[in-house]
Amino acid sequence: MEASKMESGVRRWAVDIRGWEATDEEFAYCLSLLPEEETLAVNRYVHLADRKRALISRLLQRKLAHEVLGIPLDRIQIQRTCEGKPFLANPGVQCPFPCFNYNVSHHGAYVVLASDPARLVGVDVMTHSPMRQPAPPAVEFFKNFTKCYTPYEWANVMKGGPTETGLLDQFYRYWCMKEAYIKAVGIGLGFELRRAEFHYLPENDILSRRATVSIDGVRRPEWIFTLDRLGEDHWVCVGRGPPEEATSSCSFPSSSKAAPVVAQPGESVLDIDFEFLAVEDLLIKDEKLFWRTSRTM
Ligand SMILES: CC(C)(COP(=O)(O)OP(=O)(O)OC[C@H]1O[C@@H](n2cnc3c(N)ncnc32)[C@H](O)[C@@H]1OP(=O)(O)O)[C@@H](O)C(=O)NCCC(=O)NCCS
Repeated sequence: MEASKMESGVRRWAVDIRGWEATDEEFAYCLSLLPEEETLAVNRYVHLADRKRALISRLLQRKLAHEVLGIPLDRIQIQRTCEGKPFLANPGVQCPFPCFNYNVSHHGAYVVLASDPARLVGVDVMTHSPMRQPAPPAVEFFKNFTKCYTPYEWANVMKGGPTETGLLDQFYRYWCMKEAYIKAVGIGLGFELRRAEFHYLPENDILSRRATVSIDGVRRPEWIFTLDRLGEDHWVCVGRGPPEEATSSCSFPSSSKAAPVVAQPGESVLDIDFEFLAVEDLLIKDEKLFWRTSRTM
């Protein structure tokens, strides 16, 4: 398949929830656009901020299904693998891509979605502001995670110092990469995080946007991780790798016999910057009209 056609299956979307006050009417309207089981999943959260993130996550997935695959809104079926990775399961809908899959993440102010037409994709966003106030010194905080990172990774985290911000920045860059790998493969819980050791490209540039991974000490250059800063204090990482490494099948059933595009390390094709969307951008056609009208009343 041509690279330009493949690119139409690549999305990088980010929504800053601080931009949405969410009146009761708006929230109820957005919720009414989802199937019942997704509504229940959103309402399970106690705090409004969590409900907002869960709702926006599902509206992003709905927009993706409609916009990229052309699935009619009332036919979109989001399912999850037994480990929890969401995927579109619409039997009978033709998929133009060899291995269309996507992933979502929410933390702090952002909800993000990344999709890929040919490679497994996982995404993770993390705020790198201290989660507790008053914040413990970074090195104290790190002691809770000693076993999650390898000695090589800890050495690089410490190179992020001497400032607390620099240390936390580097800590969360690695965190996002680990999670993006776990979520691309769809492992969920139970993976020993030290098995995956991340290496910047180039190796000694700890501020690089790109990295690859070694699993159990074996370099895996076919895995590529792209890091971006969102706003002032969030990191997001998109990890992409070979489809055959999925824990469970999470790709949209493909009608295409085309061979997947195999990206080379350092290659930028099929990777794009995050696009910032407002909640209104997640609505489709007439829904936008309803939204605008209700806002001016
Ligand atoms: C799902 C998991 C991989 C990440 O969850 P998280 O970081 O708490 O949450 P995120 O916001 O990044 O992602 C949540 C989304 O991931 C998706 N998801 C759930 N399980 C998944 C899985 N097994 N694979 C891929 N995606 C998954 C869901 O769509 C969920 O969003 P939704 O509920 O709105 O649909 C979780 O299993 C986990 O936290 N594992 C622990 C790994 C760990 O110890 N990390 C320490 C830091 S290095």
